[in-house]
Amino acid sequence: MRVLSSSFFVLAALSSVARGALNVYAFGSDFSIGAYSSSPAFNITHVTTTFTPGAAPSTQDGELYLWPGLMSIKDEFLYANVQQSSPSACSGSASQWCLTAQYVGAGGLISGSYSALTGSEPVTLDFSLNPDSTWTTSASISGKVVSTLQRTISRVSIFGIANECFSSGCSAASAAQTYTDTTITLSSATPSFGASATSGLGTTFTTPTTSDAGQTWTIAQITVPQAGTQFNA
Ligand SMILES: *[C@@H]1O[C@H](CO)[C@@H](O)[C@H](O)[C@H]1NC(C)=O
Repeated sequence: MRVLSSSFFVLAALSSVARGALNVYAFGSDFSIGAYSSSPAFNITHVTTTFTPGAAPSTQDGELYLWPGLMSIKDEFLYANVQQSSPSACSGSASQWCLTAQYVGAGGLISGSYSALTGSEPVTLDFSLNPDSTWTTSASISGKVVSTLQRTISRVSIFGIANECFSSGCSAASAAQTYTDTTITLSSATPSFGASATSGLGTTFTTPTTSDAGQTWTIAQITVPQAGTQFNA
């Protein structure tokens, strides 16, 4: 097994456990920013990003997942589950992605509503820490919320993206995934935050920038290579 570039992959592993099957899974390209620590010096309080998943494979032999989301210090996750595997969960066609806001952690696996997603459709994801300490996740297409979830989780210090193939032999997508204007707000200015960005298996990203001395960070573009090709290398 390759050395993972970030502990964000715990997400996919946990989710696989949550799915309750002993099965084969593999991790593909990834990105993460933040601190994997039980007592980080900062909290992430807000993340927004607009991602375009790219065309899904016309058919899918395995289960292909794209995971953008947050991880807490207690290994709880809030993320968008973008999968191609079970058209029955969404009313779309087999060649669309299926999108839902999801949580996995000690409370099990909890999903918002499912929405079919065409690969060229940009999805805006928003993760907001509310004054009452709950988090609201929302996924919107053209300004309309298509999936939302409200959960309480522990302190958050990592934002990441992972691709996963669950079961062997995922068919590859035909385009890269792009994430534009990813903005991450911290509880306090942390000048070193930008340098924590890391990626694996071909994911590229523009240098994180801040205009307020390290409290708010923007990554203009993250590009994850064509989903699925990594698993067949
Ligand atoms: C992070 O959040 C926790 C509560 O969840 C709080 O106790 C802590 O002071 C916060 N840290 C910072 C640096 O704001």
